[in-house]
Amino acid sequence: MKLRFFILNLFVFGIIINQTVCAQELSWTEAGNGIWKVTVGKPEDYNLLKAAGVKPQIASLQKMNKAEPLIAKKEIFARVQDGKTYLRFPLQKNEQIYGFGLNFQTIHQRGRILRLHTDHYSNTDNGRTHAPVPFFISSNGYGIFINSARYLDVYAGSAVRKDSKNPPKIQDRNTDKNWSARPYSDAVEILVPAEGVEFYVFSGPSPLEVVQRFNLFNGGGCLPPRWGLGFTQRVERLYNAEQVKNEAKEFAEQHFPLDFIGLEPGWQSKSYPCTFEWDNSRFPNPAQLVKELGQMGVKLNLWTNPYVSPEASIYPKIAPFTGSHTVWVGAVPDLLKPEARDILFSKFKKDHIDIGISGYKIDEVDGGDSYLWPDVATFPSGISAEQMRQTYGVLMQKYSTELFHQKNSRTYGLVRASNAGGVSFPYVIYNDNYSHQDFITGLINSGFSGVLWTPEVRASKTSEEWLRRMQTVCFSPMAMINAWASATKPWSFPDVADKVKEVALLRMQMMPYWYSEFAKYHFDGTPPFRAMNLETGFQMENRTEKVNSSLEENPYEEAVSKEIKDQYMAGEYLLVAPFFTGQTSRKVILPKGKWFDFYTGKFAGDGEVITVTSNLGNIPVYVKDGGIIPMMPPLLHAPKSGEKVDLEIRYYGQKNAKYRLYDDDGETFNYEKGDYSWREIVVEKQADGKYSGKITVPEKGKPNTIGKVSWKFMTIDNQAFLCFRTKQMLLKIAQLSTLIRLPLKITFSIYYFQKNHSRLSGF
Ligand SMILES: *[C@@H]1O[C@H](CO)[C@@H](O)[C@H](O)[C@H]1NC(C)=O
Ligand SMILES: *[C@@H]1O[C@H](CO)[C@@H](O)[C@H](O)[C@H]1NC(C)=O
Ligand SMILES: *[C@@H]1O[C@H](CO)[C@@H](O)[C@H](O)[C@H]1NC(C)=O
Ligand SMILES: *[C@@H]1O[C@H](CO)[C@@H](O)[C@H](O)[C@H]1NC(C)=O
Ligand SMILES: *[C@@H]1O[C@H](CO)[C@@H](O)[C@H](O)[C@H]1NC(C)=O
Repeated sequence: MKLRFFILNLFVFGIIINQTVCAQELSWTEAGNGIWKVTVGKPEDYNLLKAAGVKPQIASLQKMNKAEPLIAKKEIFARVQDGKTYLRFPLQKNEQIYGFGLNFQTIHQRGRILRLHTDHYSNTDNGRTHAPVPFFISSNGYGIFINSARYLDVYAGSAVRKDSKNPPKIQDRNTDKNWSARPYSDAVEILVPAEGVEFYVFSGPSPLEVVQRFNLFNGGGCLPPRWGLGFTQRVERLYNAEQVKNEAKEFAEQHFPLDFIGLEPGWQSKSYPCTFEWDNSRFPNPAQLVKELGQMGVKLNLWTNPYVSPEASIYPKIAPFTGSHTVWVGAVPDLLKPEARDILFSKFKKDHIDIGISGYKIDEVDGGDSYLWPDVATFPSGISAEQMRQTYGVLMQKYSTELFHQKNSRTYGLVRASNAGGVSFPYVIYNDNYSHQDFITGLINSGFSGVLWTPEVRASKTSEEWLRRMQTVCFSPMAMINAWASATKPWSFPDVADKVKEVALLRMQMMPYWYSEFAKYHFDGTPPFRAMNLETGFQMENRTEKVNSSLEENPYEEAVSKEIKDQYMAGEYLLVAPFFTGQTSRKVILPKGKWFDFYTGKFAGDGEVITVTSNLGNIPVYVKDGGIIPMMPPLLHAPKSGEKVDLEIRYYGQKNAKYRLYDDDGETFNYEKGDYSWREIVVEKQADGKYSGKITVPEKGKPNTIGKVSWKFMTIDNQAFLCFRTKQMLLKIAQLSTLIRLPLKITFSIYYFQKNHSRLSGF
């Protein structure tokens, strides 16, 4: 023990003497099960974890397997020089890396050069994004998180050192066609503009477990209220109270689900900069409005940005606690000054939350440079403009969430910026770009960085586009139309109105599933929406030889090694493969293991690339073998606290299966005190070949909102997948020769007869 201290002191001494720390000298301290903290030089006092006030979920972490990070510790290098910290992490051949925040165009980050900087998304992935989370995950099964609230320069496997262990081959451009302008690099290098930093190393062993540990370390994912997972409409910006009520009535008349309405800037007497006060002419009695909407089962969410108008009543009081520069001539509260927080959030509490407002949409806390405070701005707390920018979104989330916590009423809202540390805050990121493809790539990347993202729907040029966008938003963390500028309604395109309603009602039916999956985000750290790369059997395997890159010969291997930007996992069992406007068919990569069609229960494929056509108009969704999807009736509003709801449990495939169904009051924070229950659903094949399901009884004294339980075995013909195979084979033979058409016809008839027969006899 004494010797260890002595050695530790030596390291500290060493750092001071020559400001250089060699790889072997880094001291690792365990910071949680499978998490190590490494300190280099003198880290700054203010960092991402501190800004968020993160409390790791130690008990949940403890339940995970013990594992060492699959990275060569000795090859991690750090040094402090010129007031900056240089970090280097080794990369192996065939290793891929993911993360570095909410990217919109790229999944694979190896080879990229980024400056992690909070900003809006300006149509390129250069590190400037709403959530520039300095965390990356390796396909080899470890993750690295740099706990710094600075702009970080990242060379994610792009630079080549003279002393590289795996140097690229030198090629002569004169004669060698293989010459590359981007030679092979064997390290991630990061420059931190500070005289020290702490970083964390997360073990897996799988990439998903790396992400789980990161999320749990950051406090666990948020658990939205049930109503947060229903449907939400944001109305046109100058709507008045009558129009808002009429909107709610219209939804009810149309029999379209609606859990909350969002008001845009016009609810405030002045906006950009903001007064945070109701506009008397449009909203003469906001408390009454909230009450009347509440009677219709609809809650109210308020848009705001935090920039204080000189005409706001709180302005004189808050002015001394604001930054040197303004945003749209509004003062910027220094959220690190308790006085500023008190003044701002007391206003929120008194004028909004106390009358029953359910949440916020916190706008423009990200950038861009042309309107946000510049890096030369100063703040009374002494925190630099740069650090303030990297954490402002997290601070707004933290302190607004606290208001709801004090009321013991959960919230679920929107925010334009986040960072590490923000994992547990119940906010979903959105932005101004409207590329449907990029929105889906964003959804995929959100799962790597502990943030949530909604591919919100605003307007569309065609009904096809409207339907496609509505389908993806219903398979995302927040099912929302943002009609602030378009005034669109779900039924704005009559020819697809039925299909749109169908998917919105499906969203409602799936609420028990979504809610349980969010509970797993909170308690297990598993992101509810995530990349295929986090799916077992989908990672590039740790191969020494290159995979066969011939698409014809091995399409699955080829597909898996590419960036997958158009399909994702939703919860434990679902694979979602959206259609974009103009597509009549698309390829879907089904990981190894059997997959079944969500709508029909039919076998769809196993470790292969399939082609689906768009003619049915549904969003393609596939269920993993043994998938259990708990559903409720298609209610128009989320069940209220304590409301009992019948459950239809759908089962897909052939494997014996288990599912953990989460239950609590759905509205309060009582789950933090243990007021929740997990019920186990089990489906097993019986001796007679039939399947049967069971659900455990509710725990005594724990919340129980489940009414009658019914079962639906979706994969009726459990031999169908075999027939599917046979049919595929026969089709191939049919292509070879016309001579065997007749016998084939007979075979098919027998096949169909058997199939129809088994369908009739059912289970
Ligand atoms: C270029 O690469 C190809 C394929 O890897 C290889 O067959 C060929 O020999 C290389 N050419 C040279 C000049 O090294
Ligand atoms: C969104 O980003 C894409 C680039 O991926 C760009 O083509 C498009 O114009 C952007 N849309 C908006 C509204 O900024
Ligand atoms: C991956 O391959 C490297 C080098 O061949 C090896 O050292 C490492 O143990 C492998 N990792 C796994 C998870 O198999
Ligand atoms: C890869 O595919 C090529 C071309 O189709 C084939 O000739 C070769 O045998 C395959 N190699 C391996 C290792 O499977
Ligand atoms: C089986 O059902 C299909 C429709 O699902 C029908 O087209 C076909 O004629 C039936 N075949 C037999 C042999 O009953």
